[in-house]
Amino acid sequence: MSPHQIQTAGQQSSRRSWAEPWKIKMVEPLRMIGRAERERALSDAGFNTFLLRSDDVYIDLLTDSGTGAMSDRQWAGMMLGDESYAGSRNFYHLEAAIQEYYGYRHIVPTHQGRGAEHLISQVAITEGQHVPGNMYFTTTRVHQELAGGVFVDVIIDEAHDPEHLHPFKGNIDLAKLEALIERVGADNIAYVSVAGTVNMAGGQPVSMANIKDVRALCTLHGIRLFLDATRMVENAFFIQEREPGYADTPIAAILKEFCSHTDGAWMSAKKDNLANIGGWLAVNDEGLYEELRNLVVVYEGLHTYGGLAGRDMEALAIGITECVQDDYVRSRIGQVRYLGDLLVDWGIPIVLPIGGHAIFLDARRFYPHLAQDHFPAQTLAAELYLDSGIRSMERGIASAGRDPVTGEHQYPKLELTRLTIPRRVYTQAHMDVTAESIKAVFDGRGEVRGLRMVHEPKYLRFFQCRFERLGG
Ligand code: F0G
Repeated sequence: MSPHQIQTAGQQSSRRSWAEPWKIKMVEPLRMIGRAERERALSDAGFNTFLLRSDDVYIDLLTDSGTGAMSDRQWAGMMLGDESYAGSRNFYHLEAAIQEYYGYRHIVPTHQGRGAEHLISQVAITEGQHVPGNMYFTTTRVHQELAGGVFVDVIIDEAHDPEHLHPFKGNIDLAKLEALIERVGADNIAYVSVAGTVNMAGGQPVSMANIKDVRALCTLHGIRLFLDATRMVENAFFIQEREPGYADTPIAAILKEFCSHTDGAWMSAKKDNLANIGGWLAVNDEGLYEELRNLVVVYEGLHTYGGLAGRDMEALAIGITECVQDDYVRSRIGQVRYLGDLLVDWGIPIVLPIGGHAIFLDARRFYPHLAQDHFPAQTLAAELYLDSGIRSMERGIASAGRDPVTGEHQYPKLELTRLTIPRRVYTQAHMDVTAESIKAVFDGRGEVRGLRMVHEPKYLRFFQCRFERLGG
């Protein structure tokens, strides 16, 4: 039974809802501009929600990255920043928190996730090597490719089917991975890149059984296994909920066990870790650490700050301890589900099962009359903004970019519009307003024509590309 469903009188006594394990101490006023102003703002932004000004946005579901609310303890930690260039005490707090909760031996801070992706890609990939992974992520893949790597998707087929109810749609397909090893040879594989949860698949988790199997295969062939730990806490929640034997294991313990099957991790601390900025790399191997610790000095900063202020490292260290608490994670994912359940009840096509950080509208089924190269998911993000000032993000053909060899659009099976829920920021009423706006856009779907891309940057085009309405 979904928490939002109205119960009959007889059921009332048995009703038990979850609620956020915090109360609100400080508020930030929201502004809602009128329809005509939104039309103008969207047209100025080239129909790309990344190019809108946040002042023109009402409920901002663009991303869960760096958009979370810090706790009073984190804000207090900001006042304890030790801004020494070298050896800041906040770095040692951060190092200890990562060692305790993720279990890796050596830590390198970075300014955010892609800083860490850059370093690990430069150090661990040799030109021409393959990098198998459980579906691509935009910044992860671009750094692997810039380092000369060739990304190969080895996620299970179910992940590409938005309606398939597999409980661990983020799993790696062992047969696909074995076939790749067979085809190119273990020496031509830089490492296996596993993300928990899988962002582009809809925030779908990887099972503990799967990571153990992948570990065994990697060990057999002498291949390293690295984790994108960005939303691994949310992944641990799904293991606790769905995987036999873990129902009574705390999320913190599941997280640490999962990480123990990998050789290292990179992190965008702007998500799970509840920080507004930050990232880190963590590895067990001494030699690899030495190289990363050296390279971070070139691109990010000294190895005891990696582009972060001391105060940011302190807030991050505290965020790590807060984000692994079971009641927090339950309410965080509970809120995402609350929104998703409303949409499912109203017959609106979304990716199922509902994932950890976002609801993904299935733009193919939303706008079946639009061809994929008319950007249905981008169109949907634009229409939603026009309806109510709610900002979402395209995760379809624009995000997938072009094939580095042929230069053609890559046509991903998933053509999605992501409504990403910031952590500890919006209330249930904001979720109701969001669901009702999506319903209004759904009801008007037949009238909508697609978009044409009129400006296309070379790297990660979705961030800055511009569109015009088809038919003027
Ligand atoms: N890995 C994953 C799985 C991510 O979702 C992101 C960022 C990164 C790495 C890169 O980290 O942004 O700190 O440099 N995802 C954001 C998003 C941008 O909106 O999903 P970053």
